[in-house]
Amino acid sequence: MMEKCNNNKSFIMFSLLFCFLLFPHLLLSLENDYVRAPVRQLVTTQNQRSDSDPQQVHISLVGKDKIRVSWITEDKHTQSLVEYGTNSGKYSSKATGTHTSYQYFLYTSGRIHNTVIGPLEPSTTYFYRCGGSGPEFSFKTPPSKFPIEFAIVGDLGQTEWTQSTLKHVDSTNYDVFLLPGDLSYADSQQPLWDSFGRLVEPYASKKPWMVTQGNHEIETFPIIYPHGFKAYNNRWLMPFEESGSTSNLYYSFEVVGSHIIMLGSYTDFDDKSEQYKWLQSDLDSVDRSRTPWVIALLHAPWYNTNEAHQGEGESMRQAMEKLLYDANVDLVFAGHVHAYERFTRIYDNEANSCGPLYVTIGDGGNREGLALNFKNPPSPLSLYREPSFGHGRLQILNETHAHWSWYRNNDTNSFVADGVWIQSLFSSKACTQNPEKQTSHEEL
Ligand SMILES: *[C@@H]1O[C@H](CO)[C@@H](O)[C@H](O)[C@H]1NC(C)=O
Ligand SMILES: *[C@@H]1O[C@H](CO)[C@@H](O)[C@H](O)[C@H]1NC(C)=O
Ligand SMILES: [Fe+2]
Repeated sequence: MMEKCNNNKSFIMFSLLFCFLLFPHLLLSLENDYVRAPVRQLVTTQNQRSDSDPQQVHISLVGKDKIRVSWITEDKHTQSLVEYGTNSGKYSSKATGTHTSYQYFLYTSGRIHNTVIGPLEPSTTYFYRCGGSGPEFSFKTPPSKFPIEFAIVGDLGQTEWTQSTLKHVDSTNYDVFLLPGDLSYADSQQPLWDSFGRLVEPYASKKPWMVTQGNHEIETFPIIYPHGFKAYNNRWLMPFEESGSTSNLYYSFEVVGSHIIMLGSYTDFDDKSEQYKWLQSDLDSVDRSRTPWVIALLHAPWYNTNEAHQGEGESMRQAMEKLLYDANVDLVFAGHVHAYERFTRIYDNEANSCGPLYVTIGDGGNREGLALNFKNPPSPLSLYREPSFGHGRLQILNETHAHWSWYRNNDTNSFVADGVWIQSLFSSKACTQNPEKQTSHEEL
């Protein structure tokens, strides 16, 4: 980078100024001894299989004991058939789902297949094949009892950093992958969605990937595509109908003592909106004796001390924070800001031992690079902040204790840079029996 700045002595002042205007992060790397990870190259993956073979295979949880297998074929006649079983090469069961495709300007997608399989046994490895041909895939179902482990990372993209993050995520065991928005960074270039699907297939075909949308999924175009999310909704179908939602942009699901709520930062959220009403009834339906942990994910953070994206989650916070607080939601994960930040438990901008703990984890490795500047002086609500690529792990050990850790990418390896024990709010009488907190919404 520095060579770009000292190639012409007579214009050194001008070029320095110009350089810093173009590459403001250089100023920062001069300020700090520690040089932050630079942006890495885009990785595009080609289809190596035949047209009728599955590509971009990924799985997601549906209901108590089912899994949705999603994949794409170039061939428009392939059936949405999934054959599966617990022995490799011997498929004792099969299911047929549905298929669709979409158009975006001159681009026409391949045939997008969605097939729900099950009921499946917990903690069991299943082998499966899609569309009657092509490679065999396998996945392991989540357990039926604690402990359970979630890998969490947002703003993934498809760069060499994305690859290293995914390798680190994969290097130790976990049960379910959670992604708080910004997947492919296709930004309307539809073939990049296909490329992303192929990049993540080795991971997303063997563990359930539960995702919610980010701003890079919007892809609206005036008059022609006013509602947006065309590629996202077609390619990343989540169990919204199964959770009483009318939109793929927000839904919930349950797995081993955890009720996980995926919210939509880029659809209506005010108190008259469908999403708000759905969230209210979803929270009312939570049975804490079945799911002592309640966790929410969304894209634009409600709490953020980075200079990037300041205030972008604020109107959603004002609309929905009280619902989450009243319902004793334990944790809220966000993405959007390309850095890691962990807060204390908060309600309405103040530390509150009965509020959710907030984490921003938008550091998956996308092509836009890191959000380097945190505001100073640091807020007492923010307990750890660092602009590095990495991923997080939430291990829920039992109904009262969980451990959160953040792994910083260190080139070919990664290591734990932050960690904290978390106690469920369900286990705190001070929070669950607090008359100040409404446990129902009868007055509305
Ligand atoms: C839950 O796990 C924590 C941490 O391992 C342990 O200290 C605690 O005793 C466990 N509680 C129960 C009820 O098993
Ligand atoms: C980070 O990577 C460097 C270079 O590969 C290595 O020397 C160092 O030990 C690593 N640090 C940790 C904590 O793994
Ligand atoms: Fe974003």
